[in-house]
Amino acid sequence: MGKLEGRITVVTGGASGIGAATVKRFAEEGAFVYVADVQDEKGEEIVAGLGEGQGAYVHLDVTDSAAWQEFAARIASEKGKVDVLFNNAGSVTTPPSRTRRTRCTSSASPSPSTACTTACATCTTSCRPPATRR
Ligand SMILES: NC(=O)c1ccc[n+]([C@@H]2O[C@H](COP(=O)([O-])OP(=O)(O)OC[C@H]3O[C@@H](n4cnc5c(N)ncnc54)[C@H](O)[C@@H]3O)[C@@H](O)[C@H]2O)c1
Repeated sequence: MGKLEGRITVVTGGASGIGAATVKRFAEEGAFVYVADVQDEKGEEIVAGLGEGQGAYVHLDVTDSAAWQEFAARIASEKGKVDVLFNNAGSVTTPPSRTRRTRCTSSASPSPSTACTTACATCTTSCRPPATRR
C-alpha cells in the first residue's frame, strides 16, 4: 500500500519540472492528484500518464486569488478535502527595496537612467544594480 493511499493532493506548477515529477510520485504512492498549472496541454498530458481516476488537470494561475477560490470550491464539491498541497509554482516579484536600488538603462524607458520603480515594466530586463562604490 502506498504512503498516500486515498489522499487528495494538489500540486501547483504540476505540468513540468519538479512539479510534474512530484505529481508522478504522489500518484505512485496512491494519491489522487490535482495538477494545477497554466500550461494546459502539458498538464493534461501528465494527467493522462497517471493511472485511471488518479488525477485531474486544473487551469490555475496561482497569482489569481479568485481562481484559487473557484478551485477550492471545485475540490470541496468533488472530494470534500485536501490532504496535501505542494505549492510549487513560484511567481517572482522584485521587492520594492531592490527596485529602488536598481537603475534603468533601457533606451525604451520614458526616463532612462532614473531609478526604476515597479511601474517600469517595459524595461525590467534592462535594469541592473548601480555600480558598487569603493
Ligand atoms: N529547478 C531549480 O533548480 C529550482 C531551484 C530553486 C527554486 N525552484 C523553484 O521550484 C519551483 C519549480 O521549479 P522547476 O524548475 O520545476 O520549474 P519549471 O519551470 O520546470 O516548472 C514550473 C511550472 O510552474 C508553472 N507555472 C508558472 N507560473 C505559474 C502560475 N502563475 N500559475 C500556475 N503555474 C505556473 C509552469 O507552467 C511550469 O509548469 C519554482 O517555483 C522554482 O522557482 C527551482
